[in-house]
This record gives sequence, structure tokens and C-alpha cells, in this order.
Amino acid sequence: LSMPVIQTKTKLTEELNKLGNNQDLGLVPTMGALHKGHASLIQKAVEENKNVVVSIFVNPTQFNNKEDLDKYPKTLVSDVQLISAISDDIIVFAPDVAEIYPDTIIPKIYDFEGLDKVMEGEFRDDHFNGVGTIVEELLKTVKPTRAYFGEKDFQQLRIIQKLTEIQHIPVEIIGCEIVREDHGLAMSSRNERLSEKIRLKAAFIYDTLKTAKIKFGMENALNVKDWVINEFEKTDEFQLEYFDITDIETLTPIQNKINNIKYRAFIAVYVEDVRLIDNIALN
Ligand code: PAJ
Repeated sequence: LSMPVIQTKTKLTEELNKLGNNQDLGLVPTMGALHKGHASLIQKAVEENKNVVVSIFVNPTQFNNKEDLDKYPKTLVSDVQLISAISDDIIVFAPDVAEIYPDTIIPKIYDFEGLDKVMEGEFRDDHFNGVGTIVEELLKTVKPTRAYFGEKDFQQLRIIQKLTEIQHIPVEIIGCEIVREDHGLAMSSRNERLSEKIRLKAAFIYDTLKTAKIKFGMENALNVKDWVINEFEKTDEFQLEYFDITDIETLTPIQNKINNIKYRAFIAVYVEDVRLIDNIALN
């Protein structure tokens, strides 16, 4: 490996103590299999902080099925290469499961005030409890000034903001723009599982979001949703799981637009047995 990788919390704390006061420390939590989307978060963290920690940990408590967890790609060597190409004094923290969950592999239960009950949380009861558990642990171990999360997982970003509020964790949560492939498909490690042909065709998902945004300027949310459902019914390859227009605060689907409220459209799609998500700001 081109740079040291820290595997224990004790060693990590030791390294962080050497930095003196952690006044200006950035944290980028990841599950590895890093791509340009992750790289943009790391890049931003490097620009905005004197020191940066990138964590790589495939968190078992946020997976709702074991097969999905077992299939998750592990590419530590190339991950470390990608990180060191951005800066060679980033601290990489890659603990194993026993380090984070020494006793039982179960998540804490949080009250995210309903943010976890919709969309990505609707059919995955404990998913966001699992995300909350690992992110709380990382924030409390690293004690960063700022932590970076992608808008690709906008619902996760909102839940992390809520987490720091309800747990009183003093950190600035920074949302980062979605990084896309040239034709518009949001970057994801899951894109690797698509055939070349479908990967190109999957630009359809973002194209639909962009048109939905234009339509939302002229029509109500339900009409836009009906249009999207219809667009997906016309395709053979793409199965729509959900399309919702919500306000960005509560993430609840809306009926009518209200002035001065910010809205976003969210989508989840199955293609070739791969589940893809994306979202777009509407105003
Ligand atoms: P992971 O899927 O590895 O993503 C790590 C971070 O990268 C997340 O904040 C995610 O939103 C961001 N990201 C992924 N693809 C992106 C893209 N195309 N553009 C911009 N940002 C992108 O999300 C997780 O890991 C985990 O849930 C984690 C927060 C690490 C907790 O286990």
C-alpha cells in the first residue's frame, strides 16, 4: 500500500493527538470501492481542512440482506491509491467489523422524526439506524470540524444532519454535489455491474429527472409523477421503484407547491437487477 492504513480506534486517536488541536479536521466516511464521486468529497475536504481522515468500512448494520453485504466490493489497494493521488497526508482509517462492533452487530435505534420512514427507509427498517450508528461512532472517534456527504444520497445527508442535532455532536455537515458520468448517470460502484449497453442507456434516469424538473415549473407534483411513471412503463429494461417530489426539510411527498419552500425529486430504479438511485433539485 502506498500509505499507512490505520485499523484501530486507539491508533487513530494517537495519530490525531499528534496533530495537536483538531481545530481544522475534515472527515469523509465511505464504504470503499471508491470512484470519482467519493474523490470529489475527499478533494473538497482537502481544500477546506488542514487535515483529513477518510474512513473505509463496509458497515454491516446498514445492509438489509446478507447477500448484498457479502457482494459489496472490497478494493482497499486501489482505494488507497485513489486517496494518495489526491494527497499523501490523508489519514486512512479502515477498521474491521470487530473493532467497530466488539459485542453485537446491531444498530442503535434513533428517532429521526420520520426522515427515515420514506423512500430509502420505507422498506429497509433499520437501514438508517445502521447508518446513524456508524456515523455517530466515526464522528465521536474522529471529532472532525467538518464531515462530508454526497447529495447522491440526499436522504442520508438530511438524516446525518438530524443525527448531529439530536445527539448534540458539534460538527459542520457539508453536502457535496452529485458527480455524474459524462452522459449523466450518477456515479456509483453499482454502475460497474451494468452491461456496457445498459450503462449508456441508463442516462435515461437523469434525462427523466431533468424533464421532470422542467415540468414541475408548469404542473403540479402529481401530474409530474404520473408522467414519470408512464415514461418508465414505456421501457422494457427499467423498472421504477419510486419517484417522489418532496420538500427538502421533511422529505414528505407534496401535493401543492408553496412559495419559498425548496423541493427535490427522488428516484429509485431497477435495471439488470441493479438498484440505482438519483435525485435533482427542482427550485
Ligand atoms: P458510500 O456509498 O461509500 O458513499 C460515501 C459517500 O460518497 C456518501 O456521502 C455518498 O453520498 C458519496 N457519494 C457516492 N457517490 C457519489 C456521487 N456520484 N456524487 C457525490 N457523492 C457521492 O454512503 C455511504 O458510503 C455509507 O452509508 C456511509 C455514510 C459511509 C456510512 O456507512
